[in-house]
Amino acid sequence: MINTFSFVPFKPGDVKGDTLIYYGGCDTLGYLFPACRFFKEIILAEFLETKLQAARTWINKEPGAFDWSLAAKYVCELEGNREIGIEKEESLRGKITKLIKCEANEYHPVAPKLPTQVDCLLSTTFLELMCTDVDGYRKALKDMSSLVKIGGHLVLVPVLGCTFIMHGTFKLPILCLDEECVKAAVIDAGFLIKQSKNNKRVNQTKYSVLDLDSVFCLVACKEKNVQ
Ligand SMILES: C[S@@+](CC[C@H](N)C(=O)[O-])C[C@H]1O[C@@H](n2cnc3c(N)ncnc32)[C@H](O)[C@@H]1O
Repeated sequence: MINTFSFVPFKPGDVKGDTLIYYGGCDTLGYLFPACRFFKEIILAEFLETKLQAARTWINKEPGAFDWSLAAKYVCELEGNREIGIEKEESLRGKITKLIKCEANEYHPVAPKLPTQVDCLLSTTFLELMCTDVDGYRKALKDMSSLVKIGGHLVLVPVLGCTFIMHGTFKLPILCLDEECVKAAVIDAGFLIKQSKNNKRVNQTKYSVLDLDSVFCLVACKEKNVQ
């Protein structure tokens, strides 16, 4: 499969600021290890109480918490071992300041109300699971865009060419997207795309579990507010 931690583009550059929000399916805390040194505060915005609870359990080091130590160690190696894994984990724990429960309407997820717009919104393999059609996907991206300040960034990591994922014995449908469709939706949501990379699947291992073609990664800067 594809190791996505290695290409999520948090390295010295423009993608930094006071606040990052991780939007949807955000118990995959490993994505935040590369991000945490560039932001003062991290917000988790989640739709499922079980996922919020999983994140809380890890933050509070409670029994049964998921072990993110290997991901932390791996990210430290990618960053040239400036710190060790335990320090990285502590740093992330200290930066997660809010866990917000979000709601969805009939068609798409609805962004939470925040006191101020954020510097960066990270969303990974989420919207394409939650939206049932491209119109809903585009509306959800516009809604997400309202959370980001002008000049702030969107880091989006969708799966492309994917129609299902197995969850135990349940086959969950996924909205099948291509690169052009994602890029058009991002631009329509008021962003300028700064970089993107399509990471193709090299073999069909576990194809019966998840039929994705690639994992796309895109960084975009917000240019304007849209309706
Ligand atoms: C493939 S997982 C990705 C999780 C994580 N963002 C990542 O990249 O590893 C998709 C996530 O989307 C969320 N999700 C999908 N459909 C949803 C729905 N209808 N309502 C709420 N959350 C949903 C679940 O939290 C699920 O874990």
